[in-house]
Amino acid sequence: MEKSRKKFADIIDQAMVAANTMDRDKLLFSYKGILYPTTFCSPEAFRAMESLEARSDDIILAGYPKSGTNWVGQILNDLVAIFEKKTQNKESSMNDEELEEFPYLEIGDTGKFERMNKLPSRRVIFTHLLPENLPRSIFKSKAKILLLIRNPKDVATSFYHFSNAMSPLPSYDTWDDFFVAFMTKKMPWGCYFEYISKWNKYADDENVMTITYEELKEHPVLSVKNISAFFGFSLTEKELQIVVERSSFQSMKKNSQKTHGAFGNLLFRKGAVSDWKNLFSEDQNEKMDKAFEEHIGRTKLGRKLKYEVYCKA
Ligand code: A3P
Repeated sequence: MEKSRKKFADIIDQAMVAANTMDRDKLLFSYKGILYPTTFCSPEAFRAMESLEARSDDIILAGYPKSGTNWVGQILNDLVAIFEKKTQNKESSMNDEELEEFPYLEIGDTGKFERMNKLPSRRVIFTHLLPENLPRSIFKSKAKILLLIRNPKDVATSFYHFSNAMSPLPSYDTWDDFFVAFMTKKMPWGCYFEYISKWNKYADDENVMTITYEELKEHPVLSVKNISAFFGFSLTEKELQIVVERSSFQSMKKNSQKTHGAFGNLLFRKGAVSDWKNLFSEDQNEKMDKAFEEHIGRTKLGRKLKYEVYCKA
């Protein structure tokens, strides 16, 4: 197993270097109708993914890109580490510089899933995939899924800055160009609205819990407590407080050189709600409002996003 331990930063660095010499139109490839970054994903790895043997105690974190996956991922890893330390006296892995496998399910080589099958429980797995593209064993095993959603205007804003900072993703000359791409389904990992509407079908499943970026930001203690309870961890108030403090934006940004390498500077950007107000024009606000209403406004997840509160100009 030792050979497969990799640093998060190394994998990102390699992808950045490889992407620097690629033509812009080769940066993304299409698989089952969805675009993915060529330097992170491959059709071969997608096919190999079906061999993943999911377990009922796996912890799945699902979220559209830029919804706060690294944030909630850290919360989940810390909850597991603290819980295991006190119940099984296992050494804490809260020092997360080294990884057994890259935490995003769909990022890696074809051998990743066979190696993952040998990893001990509990495995924390992140994914940006649509439910229909996840290995079937995830739903069969009844693994618990934490679904993380964020308001579409801040997702678009975050995605724009990220795309322009990350060489593996196509960059954009202007915010207006990016906005058109975002609204016309040209994003890696697919269309935001399609993502929310497809996951909405699972929103009432007993093994799925939904959390919004905005509620976690406003009520971190309560949110972490609810996440912890959902996965069956019994932690004291003090232990929960440690998780909350370690996952604050300031603390994660400060620690990011260790956890994420140079990539940390691109990832931990503002960590705020409503940064979209610095980019959206009146016309773009109207277009987004209309698309939201049309595609997800009346769905359970759409209502949970509190669009009126977080996205109205
Ligand atoms: P911004 O670009 O708006 O700052 P992901 O991890 O899914 O790629 O999401 C990245 C977004 O989550 C970025 O948003 C990043 O700053 C934000 N984020 C990361 N850690 C955070 C934290 N601890 N608290 C709040 N936001 C955080």
